[in-house]
Amino acid sequence: MHKHTAADEDHAATWDARYRESDRLWSGEPNAALVREAADLPPGTALDLGSGEGGDAIWLARRGWRVTGVDISRVALERAAAHVRAAGVADRVELLRRDLGAEFPEGRFDLVSAHFLHAHGGLPREAVLRRAAEAVAPGGVLLVVGHSRNAHQHHLAEAHVVLPTAEEDLAVLELAEGEWEVLACEEYEHAYTGAEGESTRVDTVVKVRRRAA
Ligand SMILES: C[S@@+](CC[C@H](N)C(=O)[O-])C[C@H]1O[C@@H](n2cnc3c(N)ncnc32)[C@H](O)[C@@H]1O
Repeated sequence: MHKHTAADEDHAATWDARYRESDRLWSGEPNAALVREAADLPPGTALDLGSGEGGDAIWLARRGWRVTGVDISRVALERAAAHVRAAGVADRVELLRRDLGAEFPEGRFDLVSAHFLHAHGGLPREAVLRRAAEAVAPGGVLLVVGHSRNAHQHHLAEAHVVLPTAEEDLAVLELAEGEWEVLACEEYEHAYTGAEGESTRVDTVVKVRRRAA
């Protein structure tokens, strides 16, 4: 983790500008990999890293989770707060503005989820993911989902970000031997409906469980 700098403010401004390009940047639906991987988990506390417009937080809260959503973008957080209120789950969702490269929420969570938190704009993804693993409570799950390099590298080519494979994401977590169970480390292809219509997406999915103490 590093100290908060002017570059971090630029990073926040870049994301704010990206969100302001449209009224709704993401679909509002929960991410397909979250639905697939978390539907069977017993509800508890969840931390959603880079919570965007709140689609995942709302889905989790509706299933009984108490969710902390964290994002660097004020615009995204304002939108997420409005969507959370409209969904009637404001009592179960807390939204925090944090630059995860500089400061990470306190506490331990039954689910820590990071969807498409890629390393563009200087986000120290690997350090953030290792910190995310530390934040998983005994018996809890860490879910890291990204865009597949094979299918979607062109999305981030301009930002000079090379998308990691699931195996690379798993390796950067540096999980302590014997303390974790790897539940998934794979690519997941699914249908996606966005502003541009129906398409197919391929995600990388890493799902690990910290063994109960
Ligand atoms: C590609 S979006 C994904 C949003 C959401 N997880 C989803 O899947 O719809 C990445 C999100 O991470 C946030 N983000 C990027 N860098 C961040 C940082 N350093 N700290 C906190 N949030 C950050 C962005 O503002 C954005 O909302």
